[in-house]
Amino acid sequence: MRVHGGASGGQLTSLVLALSCAQPLCASFSLGLETPLSTRQIIGGQELKLARNHERILTFDTKEFPLSELVADALKCKPDELDQLHTREPEEFTTERCKIRSGNANTRASLRRIELLRRGLTGAWKRSLQKRTWENEYLPRIVRDVVGREVMPEQERLIYQRSPMLRFHVAWPLAEDEAAYDCGVPPTGGRNPGTLAGLHTDADYGHPSGEVNFFLPVNPDTFGTNSLYVEGDAMRGDFEPFELKYGEIMLWNGNSCRHCSPRNISSRTRISFDFRVMPGSDWVDPPKKKGYFQLGGYYADALEERRK
Ligand SMILES: [Fe+2]
Repeated sequence: MRVHGGASGGQLTSLVLALSCAQPLCASFSLGLETPLSTRQIIGGQELKLARNHERILTFDTKEFPLSELVADALKCKPDELDQLHTREPEEFTTERCKIRSGNANTRASLRRIELLRRGLTGAWKRSLQKRTWENEYLPRIVRDVVGREVMPEQERLIYQRSPMLRFHVAWPLAEDEAAYDCGVPPTGGRNPGTLAGLHTDADYGHPSGEVNFFLPVNPDTFGTNSLYVEGDAMRGDFEPFELKYGEIMLWNGNSCRHCSPRNISSRTRISFDFRVMPGSDWVDPPKKKGYFQLGGYYADALEERRK
């Protein structure tokens, strides 16, 4: 399903959820109501129209934020080669070795190559100057000027994940003798070879419930198994892949909705930023400065500079 922010009025009438701004976003996902095509929710005190209970596509100016070029520069390729990086050899990016124990000899060789390529690309990005440009310049501006302006305009603080991952979902199309391969779609919780992220919610990893997730691919087309599969409501199991073009960002709820990236059997590698933003009005200071999810550590405030 592909739904942009402005859903039709007829779709919107099926359910209106008005949550207090003090309630976390995920509180709306446990009501056991039939999922409407779209609904309204309050995020950080602002009423939003969302699809499938939690999704909305935002857009950014790819000239103002040339993220595809930025990532391509870091990986020493052209932007239109990003989704074909699976055709490159791992040795171009890494000298690492890895052992694969599952599958037959052919599968193991392919999986070893895919895994090494993923690690090599991730390492090249982490070492790059472009990663610092993303974190210091583009990300806080996207949080302020795209996320803040469009969905959290009244907030005095925009608390965001300061150093989010760039994920490489390397394409691994099926070989002829793999026609019966179970690539894990729809997701059932199994972790088949080639899975990038197994089925989970971010709450499983201790993320605070006020977080709002954003998924930003830098490859031209994101669809099917090169995408992220997300259920429409917590524990509903109605998984669908996000469908996005470059220049779009999906707002979604990874805190309580299960999600995963099964093996990418398409012929397009996906490269995506995923980051999290919490409206300042939903922020609760962690007790005694303990734990991982601290402001000044995992999080920063994108509006802090503006107040100085
Ligand atoms: Fe996640």
